[in-house]
Amino acid sequence: MSVATAVRPQVQGLFDPATWTVTYVVHNGPGSPAAIIDSVLDYDPKSGRTRTASADKVIDYVRANELKVEWILETHAHADHLSAAPYLKKQLGGRIGIGGRITQVQKVFKAVFHLEPGFRLDGSQFDHLFQEGERFRIGELEAEVLYVPGHTPACAAYHVGDAVFVGDTMFMPDVGTARCDFPGGDAKTLYASVKQILSLPGETRLFMCHDYPPEGREVRFETTVAEQRARNIHVHDGISEAQFVEMRTKRDATLDMPVLILPSVQVNIRAGELPPPEANGVSYLKIPVNAL
Ligand SMILES: [Fe+2]
Repeated sequence: MSVATAVRPQVQGLFDPATWTVTYVVHNGPGSPAAIIDSVLDYDPKSGRTRTASADKVIDYVRANELKVEWILETHAHADHLSAAPYLKKQLGGRIGIGGRITQVQKVFKAVFHLEPGFRLDGSQFDHLFQEGERFRIGELEAEVLYVPGHTPACAAYHVGDAVFVGDTMFMPDVGTARCDFPGGDAKTLYASVKQILSLPGETRLFMCHDYPPEGREVRFETTVAEQRARNIHVHDGISEAQFVEMRTKRDATLDMPVLILPSVQVNIRAGELPPPEANGVSYLKIPVNAL
């Protein structure tokens, strides 16, 4: 059984222009419990310095609306920004949750980064690992976890009332879909995940994880199932699995790695924590040379 889609939660999107990421706060009105989805810790790759300007905007919104944060959710281990989940948890409370298949991603990248032997592969860096189809509550709001692999093997979407936070599956209709060429990614799998989301009622609100607006268009990150089925340039009704896989594979071969992939992944598989400090008290991020 699906969640109570008649409920219309309030959704605030906060766009980070440095990484094209949207952080969402979903709640049921001022004073209610809330979830934060896909937060951003600002990171300057030139200096190796982090800042909390983006996360502080989320905190300001939460405090201005007197929200009680119950969940800090990730749709996946992002490759283009560091998560601010631990910082937000310290400031606002809440439990950090992610899809249970994060353990597969941890296994791959523990090897890639040759992480310390004590790095755990059981996802226990997170407060909660969601199973496929798991139901949970954000106060009065009912939520359900959809497994939507393809961009990564561990991608999850969160269905809350009439809204779905789709993570990196689809983008806005004029942008298309997420890439599938990271370790464990698969275009055929993404196609199935997208079709699963697009089988929901047409009026279902869909909230994108990113927007990369074409020239001349304002940033937008909310659409509907009906709009995606009619107009999404990669997955509108009528595009077959074979057509999608061919397009996605060709396109992925042309894409550069995201600027922040190396710092992001090694932090995000630790639920947003920096690696353990070395003897001098400093945390170091690794760059595997000629390994990716
Ligand atoms: Fe992503």
